[in-house]
Amino acid sequence: MCGIVGYIGSHQAAPILVNGIKRLEYRGYDSVGVAVVNGEIEIKKEVGMIDKVNAVHCLDKMEGTRGIAHTRWATHGEPSKRNAHPHMDCTGDVAIVHNGIIENYVSIRKMLQEEGHAMASDTDSEVIAHLIEKFYEGNLETAVRKALLQIQGTYGLAAVHKRENKIVVARNGSPIVIGVKENGTFAASDASAILEHTKKMIYLDDREIGVIGPGAVVVKNLEDKKIDKGTQEIEWDLAQIEKGEFKHFMLKEIFEQPESLKNTMRGRLGNEIKLSINSRIEDSERLILVAGGTSWHAALIGRYLLEEIAKIPTEVDYSSEFRYRNPLIREKDLVVVISQSGETADTLAALREAKKRGAKTLGIINVVGSTIAREAEMGVYLHAGPEIGVASTKAFTSQVTALCMLAVYLKERKRGETDIKLMRELSTLPEKIDSVLKNKDKIKDIAGSVFKHNNFLYLGRGINFPVALEGALKLKEISYIHAEGYPAAEMKHGPIALIDENMPVVFVANKGKGYEKTLSNMEEVKARHGKIIAIATEGDEDIKRLADWVIHVPETLDILTPVINTIPLQLLAYYIADMKGLDVDKPRNLAKSVTVE
Ligand code: M6R
Repeated sequence: MCGIVGYIGSHQAAPILVNGIKRLEYRGYDSVGVAVVNGEIEIKKEVGMIDKVNAVHCLDKMEGTRGIAHTRWATHGEPSKRNAHPHMDCTGDVAIVHNGIIENYVSIRKMLQEEGHAMASDTDSEVIAHLIEKFYEGNLETAVRKALLQIQGTYGLAAVHKRENKIVVARNGSPIVIGVKENGTFAASDASAILEHTKKMIYLDDREIGVIGPGAVVVKNLEDKKIDKGTQEIEWDLAQIEKGEFKHFMLKEIFEQPESLKNTMRGRLGNEIKLSINSRIEDSERLILVAGGTSWHAALIGRYLLEEIAKIPTEVDYSSEFRYRNPLIREKDLVVVISQSGETADTLAALREAKKRGAKTLGIINVVGSTIAREAEMGVYLHAGPEIGVASTKAFTSQVTALCMLAVYLKERKRGETDIKLMRELSTLPEKIDSVLKNKDKIKDIAGSVFKHNNFLYLGRGINFPVALEGALKLKEISYIHAEGYPAAEMKHGPIALIDENMPVVFVANKGKGYEKTLSNMEEVKARHGKIIAIATEGDEDIKRLADWVIHVPETLDILTPVINTIPLQLLAYYIADMKGLDVDKPRNLAKSVTVE
């Protein structure tokens, strides 16, 4: 979604700003803009990708040592130059960039227009610039505070005034981080935008305002009370947010999975599971897992794991549904929120709803310092490293692994039983994933045979039904091919009508529970001339009788097969999208972290 970068210091701001918003490209956007202050405020903005806009408008050559920049993902008003940020007030003294949604903008806009302000865009954001103008009496910070007290909704904001050597940033529901260095200060909506300049970050909380000067930062709340924030050192480094030798971030991240999984498990496996979570979790009598998208698929697998291993009744809900359905929360419920970014608006709202209703809460999050990570009472970080590709890959396998460790942990604490066998098998997964990745050329060949089809069906049973859903989602997201996931046994209740020679069907068909029944489903597809791609256990040669293509994966415990089976499905989706010549890392209409509800 939208991205913000700000810089004030002794260097030229524009190259830093343009480079920063480029680092945020992965989040998805439709237009771009930069404001630099050099006596006057100069603004350049346009619809399109940063490189193209920069080639025409030379954004990075603008002169001045303080400025703000933005990538916009349209919500209010079509993608157009006039709707792109930064927005100015009537006088041209103030410029702002904004992420989030101003819910009461219609009434504010009307009031401002009646007072004589001229609006230059269709956006909700522009009213902030005019409110600052209205309240400005020689102090930008005070004017921003007064403006923010008028608005309802969410904001990550950066504002400049042409006569004040500062940038004022603010946050409510949309992240802002401040990066500090000796001779310059940075601001961004995502630390990866400024990571190459500094690892020392100050994370704003909701309803906080930061006033940043060339080498100083003051943070206050909306009530004008100073807050001592302290800096946090970020653990990611630059190499992790660059593509290296890989064609796309998604491919790099798929190949990082042996390492990311090791990092998720590091220091946590042994004679018992070590998770730094509060002992209050041990009273939990019911777990409710909430998440969206791929993280929701991880939650579905988590339900199998928690019920099978820890024997605790577990429910799963979309975070977007949970918060609106008046959920009945009991005292001994534990609500587990799962999110790669830790910023997904629906999941954050679900977390807040759960807390309001008195549940204990635990976050399973990748991004350290993210809002959900900070607001959940307890947490398990994934440590999968930064995930830049919009399609989630390594975060998913780490989420499943973390949920498995949580299940083993609860089994130990509630029933006094240690699952050494499962822990041993967990520690072999990185090596097994490595051997699947070595099969990449075969998977690429299969992609070459099927990439022209318009519809795919993904089928799996039990704990591998969510894997089918995840395989279908990956294909949809990056290749724009219609794909559906179903429990294999459900095929006969409807989807079978779709099967013909133009319908590739991907079966997750490991040996183990339900295997024979899955073979029967494959027979049914075969009889209707469907094309079959089967994920099968190493050594299973019989399956070739039914499948047109077989991808073998190493054997593991039934309950751990989802981690292994997901890898070939990620690769299949990747190669199909790449063969179609699509922008794999930035699929149309999608954003990396969905910060609107
Ligand atoms: O950051 P989160 O895990 O909360 O994100 C949830 C979904 O938006 C996300 O998984 C989305 O479905 C991805 N594009 C999947 O690849």
